[in-house]
Amino acid sequence: MTSRTDSQSEVNTEEKAEARDNTRKVFVRTYGCQMNVYDSDRMTDVLASEGYTAATSLEDADLVLLNTCHIREKAAEKVYSELGRIRKVKEERAKNGKPMMIGVAGCVAQAEGEEIARRAPIVDLVVGPQSYHRLPKLLGQAASGTKVVETEFDIDAKFDHLSEQAAAPVRKRPPAAFLTVQEGCDKFCTFCVVPYTRGAEVSRSVSQIVTEAEQMAAAGVREVTLLGQNVNAYHGEAEDGSVWGLGRLLRRLAEVDGLDRLRYTTSHPRDMDDDLIAAHRDLESLMPYLHLPVQSGSDNILKAMNRKHTRDEYFRLIDRIRDVVPNIALSGDFIVGFPGETDQDFEDTMDLIRRVEYGSAFSFKYSPRPGTPGASMEAQVPEDIKSTRLAELQALLSDQQRAFNASRLGMTFNVLLEKTGRQPGQLVGKSPWLQAVQLDAPETLIGSIQAVEIVEIGANSLFGRLIGGQDESVQARHKAGPKVLKEAAFDA
Ligand code: SAH
Ligand code: SF4
Ligand code: F3S
Repeated sequence: MTSRTDSQSEVNTEEKAEARDNTRKVFVRTYGCQMNVYDSDRMTDVLASEGYTAATSLEDADLVLLNTCHIREKAAEKVYSELGRIRKVKEERAKNGKPMMIGVAGCVAQAEGEEIARRAPIVDLVVGPQSYHRLPKLLGQAASGTKVVETEFDIDAKFDHLSEQAAAPVRKRPPAAFLTVQEGCDKFCTFCVVPYTRGAEVSRSVSQIVTEAEQMAAAGVREVTLLGQNVNAYHGEAEDGSVWGLGRLLRRLAEVDGLDRLRYTTSHPRDMDDDLIAAHRDLESLMPYLHLPVQSGSDNILKAMNRKHTRDEYFRLIDRIRDVVPNIALSGDFIVGFPGETDQDFEDTMDLIRRVEYGSAFSFKYSPRPGTPGASMEAQVPEDIKSTRLAELQALLSDQQRAFNASRLGMTFNVLLEKTGRQPGQLVGKSPWLQAVQLDAPETLIGSIQAVEIVEIGANSLFGRLIGGQDESVQARHKAGPKVLKEAAFDA
């Protein structure tokens, strides 16, 4: 049970490489959350229209873009040391008369701005997440020798422009892909940098999202995960001027031909409204998985974190979700060692985990982020106590994950086959509950949904056997209209 961002996921664009030497080549290295993965893809699209193709390696790149994450401690320092390594490659290339431009994008770019250009003179361009649509212009300026630092917040312009990009002729896409529907956050949890790096909450319009989803389906995408820092706070404008929530948007997307599976992440407990819960009941294509971070099980700490709900409200919410989808896999994020966390507060978190029973979860030691209220709170918890608590919490979460995985043994369900596995003849796919499933199957089945029987449970994945033939039951399109339950998400 490790974290997405502790280990800083790295994605390069190798697989998109083409063997054309006369074009300029870009190498994008991505850190952090899925939204950065989505943004890197969009940057690649924008640059493709300028004639850039993907470089197979750093050494081969005319342009290097680091798409950075600022959520962890020493994030900026790590970017500076990475830039140090890239400088050596740049110097090597220069000896052969080949220039290399270097850009820093993402949340560290947004947070550090000018400081990056000052501390790392090899950087030609610093660009924040809201300015990617301006990349070609900014690169043009940088190429003429001007250092460019662009960290304006103009998110509407970004979405408008990226939609035009997406309307360009579609390239083949993998079977499972991300689609950003909402960006930024107004919650201001006292530990978190996201409201500062991504800005205020903005939702894309329904028509932009539907158009992009249709294009994705046409390009071979079968499963779309809707992304937002606070995705269930989605409130986008529909064509008739009305404002739709996430539940309504999901119902619309369930009608897009070819999209067999829908997911969304990350949700805040405060924004889990009745229509969204009802969508889980009504939409067959909405997968039975919900990432609903609670961070802590102690009311004192939840308050200090400014999470805006109590532990009891979280329990009641989970009950309402499980009433509708009893087999849902719940996932969460936890922080141990937030300032002021006592042994009893930590015990309350352990108790919450025991009561909820998670299918998977991410957990972190609290790390003070400069500029956030938590960083200047008194009663910071010593590192060794954080480590002990994290180990205890992760052991419990691992047990729960193992039990959840083991409960799938002998079951037959649909798996979306996504890519080849490590062994020859092996494919890897995803269960409805977002578990990795490995099985022997021909490559021609990549991109299809197959009925698979689970025959063995591994540490991190399930092993399955192809039952043969596609299970058509999931293909059924759901046309159920919006049904709204009476209760509000929270009493407040
Ligand atoms: N929008 C998401 C959070 C994005 S950050 C949400 O509201 O859940 C992903 C996770 O990183 C958070 O859920 C939190 O558990 C963790 N995190 C964020 N800031 C942190 C900090 N300062 N120290 C430790 N963990 C942190
Ligand atoms: Fe950060 Fe809280 Fe917003 Fe999530 S809801 S992005 S943790 S401020
Ligand atoms: Fe990191 Fe920015 Fe995402 S700080 S987690 S890349 S929103």
